[in-house]
Amino acid sequence: MPTPESQSPNAINNNIRIAPSVMCADLCNLEKDIQLLEKSGIDLLHFDLMDAHFVPNMPIGLALIEQLRDKTDCEFDIHLMVDNNDFFVEAVAKIGVQQIAVHAESAIHLDRTLSVIEGYDIKAGVALNPATPLSALTYVVDRLDFVLIMTVNPGFAGQKLVPATLQKISDCRAYLDKQGVNLPIEVDGNVSFENIPKMVAVGADILVGGSSSVFQKSGSRTENVQRIHQAISLGLEDRGV
Ligand code: DX5
Ligand code: ZN
Repeated sequence: MPTPESQSPNAINNNIRIAPSVMCADLCNLEKDIQLLEKSGIDLLHFDLMDAHFVPNMPIGLALIEQLRDKTDCEFDIHLMVDNNDFFVEAVAKIGVQQIAVHAESAIHLDRTLSVIEGYDIKAGVALNPATPLSALTYVVDRLDFVLIMTVNPGFAGQKLVPATLQKISDCRAYLDKQGVNLPIEVDGNVSFENIPKMVAVGADILVGGSSSVFQKSGSRTENVQRIHQAISLGLEDRGV
């Protein structure tokens, strides 16, 4: 158990965790960027693995994740946006990652894929596109360690929040409470300084910071992470904590 002084600054912020989206980082100086982020006090690194089929993009690949594994002690948070989930689960499990989210929309055998992830002692999550109802979680909720709510349509950085997803985060929190499970909700897409208070207020616990926060051009990594902490505090006030 880390001692208080060694805990990340987020311990102050009610354990709301910050997960920078690596596809938004400076990919030509990635090792340096990640070291900067680590110094800024982030909690885990979010890797978007896309196959250019489930979504029409492919910003990073397996070799990049493998090479970065030895460069940082940060937890790796893998977001699979692929058709062949089982192939990529095996591939990243071999690299050494701490959590994997698979899309309900691409998983033909979702229950089995989640059990394979569990078998590697890796935290398992389901990612839901903005339009996908929470009922997709019904028969797998006991296999989950977290839920990933997409607040934009997956595949690209720099998009605007889908407005209905704020209500969806709140509904997801209520749904999980009703199921009697206290799982973290990860939110991904336009997690901006403006949107963070609203997202945290309705139940977001893990914030995927991309182009509109961690990597916002107007500030340094450290300044942006500090602004995120301020935004989290605002959200926690609204949450009543
Ligand atoms: C999009 C990815 C996100 C994306 C976030 O499919 O899952 O992680 O990089 O980028 P922003 O924060 O710019 O929306
Ligand atoms: Zn993502």
